[in-house]
Amino acid sequence: MEATYDRTSEVKAFDDTKIGVKGLVDAGISQIPRIFHHPHTTVTNPKPSSTAMTKIPTVDLGGGVFDSTVTRENVIEMIRNAVERFGFFQVVNHGIPIDVMEKMKDVIRKFHEQDSEVRKKFYSRDINKNFKYNSNFDLYSSPSANWRDTLTCFMFPDVPKTEDLPEICGDIMLEYSKQVMILGELIFELLSEALGLNPNHLKEMDCTKGLLMLSHYYPSCPEPDLTFGTSQHSDRSFLTILLQDHIGGLQVLENGYWVDVPPIQGALLVNLGDLLQLITNDKFVSVEHRVLANRGEKPRISVATFFVHPLPSLRVYGPIKELLSEQNPPKYRDTTITEYTRHYMARGLDGNSVLLDFKI
Ligand code: OGA
Ligand code: NI
Repeated sequence: MEATYDRTSEVKAFDDTKIGVKGLVDAGISQIPRIFHHPHTTVTNPKPSSTAMTKIPTVDLGGGVFDSTVTRENVIEMIRNAVERFGFFQVVNHGIPIDVMEKMKDVIRKFHEQDSEVRKKFYSRDINKNFKYNSNFDLYSSPSANWRDTLTCFMFPDVPKTEDLPEICGDIMLEYSKQVMILGELIFELLSEALGLNPNHLKEMDCTKGLLMLSHYYPSCPEPDLTFGTSQHSDRSFLTILLQDHIGGLQVLENGYWVDVPPIQGALLVNLGDLLQLITNDKFVSVEHRVLANRGEKPRISVATFFVHPLPSLRVYGPIKELLSEQNPPKYRDTTITEYTRHYMARGLDGNSVLLDFKI
């Protein structure tokens, strides 16, 4: 039955309203439109998380100042273990002031909760626009939509001008992204060392040459068992730093089980993206993750900052030569971020790693 409906026109009708999922909730709907329905098998599989599963490691960065209690070697060892096994870790004492994190979540909430007439003015899918608001970047390419709206903006290398950002959130976005760049540079140094390379290696490969900020709003969902907040995917970045509120719902896939990522007050979540898996020749892993539809009453806010270049980016990436040997030949062919991103966007979030397209 469901297969016969005219999905494209229903998707377009929703998109044309420019009010996002938040607008549907404000209209008081009690059933979600069928464009948001995911196949039953996806919603119920794979197995639910087991409490016996190992927890995502938490790493104390000691404010980036390493002394006898938090030594650099210990931190590198913890990070190496975390990214080889999970592709994910949380960081505390990361140097980003708590009030900047709190303000960031606050202003993102305020943006998404302002009058729909104001929000509509920013609603766009124009690739030439830097700051835009929309619901589901892959609305037209993915088989099922997600219960989420998002603000999208590149913050580096071209720093947006204050006047090009909404007054309600612009200053804080600029401040938070500046802090994320500093933390990101530290994490890339530690990751370089964890690979046995010079601390500046990943930075010199331009891994920190771009920062994309996605500020998500996950409204309460009246039928959370039929859809997702974000469907299963891995990130197309080198690295992602995620700020999430206390609501939860993020899960990572570990050995076929979904493991909850518990929100920790003041912590940030770090995960590796596909591009880092590619250049480390699978030494570090980019793990699949998803966000369950929000079953609580309050909306969930998260801010994902991706270290990835804006397009077009013709810089060529392949497995790092220093990591290769006869026993460890390259597993991926060279690609550019432009080519990689095109593959990623064309697929939408469908749960299959785009990395497979680049295997030798
Ligand atoms: C993402 C993502 C998780 C979240 O934006 O890629 O995985 O909690 N976000 O919003
Ligand atoms: Ni992600």
